[in-house]
Amino acid sequence: MSNLRINIVLFGIGNVGSELISQVLESQQFFLQNKNIELRFPIITNSTLAFFEKDGIKNKWEANFVQAAIPFRIEDIIEYVKDQQLENLIAVDATASDSIIQSYIPLIQNGFHIVAANKKANTLHHAFYNELRRNLKKFDKLFLYETNVGAGLPVINTIKSLHESGEKITKIRGVFSGSLSYIFNRFGSEEVPFSEILSAAEKLGLTEPDAREDLSGNDVARKLLILAREIGLPFEFSDVKITSLLLPNLNELNTKAEFSVNKALLNKPYQVAKITQSDNHVLRYIGELDLTQQSLEVKLISEAKNSALGQLKGADNHIEIYTKSYENQPIVIQGAGAGKKVTARGVLSDILKVAEQIKLQKNLLVAVSKI
Ligand SMILES: NC(=O)c1ccc[n+]([C@@H]2O[C@H](COP(=O)([O-])OP(=O)(O)OC[C@H]3O[C@@H](n4cnc5c(N)ncnc54)[C@H](OP(=O)(O)O)[C@@H]3O)[C@@H](O)[C@H]2O)c1
Repeated sequence: MSNLRINIVLFGIGNVGSELISQVLESQQFFLQNKNIELRFPIITNSTLAFFEKDGIKNKWEANFVQAAIPFRIEDIIEYVKDQQLENLIAVDATASDSIIQSYIPLIQNGFHIVAANKKANTLHHAFYNELRRNLKKFDKLFLYETNVGAGLPVINTIKSLHESGEKITKIRGVFSGSLSYIFNRFGSEEVPFSEILSAAEKLGLTEPDAREDLSGNDVARKLLILAREIGLPFEFSDVKITSLLLPNLNELNTKAEFSVNKALLNKPYQVAKITQSDNHVLRYIGELDLTQQSLEVKLISEAKNSALGQLKGADNHIEIYTKSYENQPIVIQGAGAGKKVTARGVLSDILKVAEQIKLQKNLLVAVSKI
C-alpha cells in the first residue's frame, strides 16, 4: 500500500508547536509502518515569519527557520501550496492568536482541514461559530480541537459522544485549568509566595502565553463555553459569570511586562484568603456549567483537603460530568491538563484522525471510480 503524505502548515512554534514537530519526527517511522501515513511540515510560522520548504535545504527546522524564514501573509501560504500542488492539507493552529482565526475560513475554502490548540475560534460570537461550521460542511473539511479543554485528556470527545447518543447532561464541574491547578495545588501545600509559584508555572510553559488570561478566569470561561456549545447551547462569552483572580489595579496594567514586574502584589490577598479558610481546606479555582439552571460560572472556592478536588496534584484537571443515566455518580476525567508534551500529543492525535479521514475519502473515491 502506498503512503499517504499529509502536508501540515504549522502556525505557532512555541511550547506546543515545537514539541509537536519533535513528536512527529520521533514517531515518523511508526506512523509509516503502522498507518502508511507520512506527516510533513512544508510551512512553519511564528507571528511574523514563515519558513517555506525549499529543495536542497536539509538542516534542522530551527536552523532553517532562523536562516530562511520571511514575513508572510495568509495569501502567500495559499499561493505556495497551490504552486507546489500540495494535497492533503492540514492547518495546525498552535497559537493563542485572535487574528489567525480570521484565516480559518479562507484556509478551509482553499482545501485545508483545521486542527487547533487555540480556543479563540470556538469562543467568538455565534455568528462566526456557525459560519465556520457552514464552510466546513460545504467544503467537506474537518475542524478538530480536542486540546481546547483538558489539553491531552479526552474531554470534548466524551461530552460530544454522550450528547450525540441522546444522554442528558445536567452539570459539568471541576478544575479546568492546568496552570491554576498547579498554582493552587502548590499554594495549598507549600509555604511559598503566590507570585513565585506563578512564575514557576510560566517557566514550565503551563500558563497561557499571557498568564493574565489564566488569572482573569477568561481561559476557564472559554473552556466552559466550548463545552456548552458542544451540547448545542447558544451561549456567548459574556454569559459566563467570572470571578477574576486578578486585582483591579493589576488588571488595568496593559502590558505583559508591566504585569510581570508587579505580580508580587498578588501575594498578600492570596495569603489572607489561604489563612482565613476553615481548617483542612484549600483554595481551588473551578468552572461550573449547570444545565438545569442554564448558568456558567468560574470562581475561587475553599474545598476540604480530603475531597477529590482538594487532593489534586501537579497540573491535573479534574472534570466531573453529571448526566441523567449516571445520576449522582459523575463520570470523572482526571489527569495532566497542561504541559507541552501532553498538549502536543493531543494535537498529534487530532492530526492523525484527520489523516485517517482523508485516507477513507480517497479509498471511497477509488472504489466509486471502479464501479
Ligand atoms: N502550553 C500548554 O500547556 C497548553 C495546553 C492546552 C492548550 N494550549 C494552547 O496552545 C496554544 C499555544 O500555547 P503555547 O504554550 O505553545 O504558546 P507559546 O509558547 O506562547 O507559543 C505561541 C506561538 O504562536 C505564535 N503566534 C502568535 N500569533 C501568531 C499568528 N498570528 N500567526 C502565527 N503564529 C503566531 C508565536 O509566535 P511569536 O513568538 O512570534 O509571538 C509562538 O510561536 C494556546 O492557544 C494555548 O491555549 C497550551
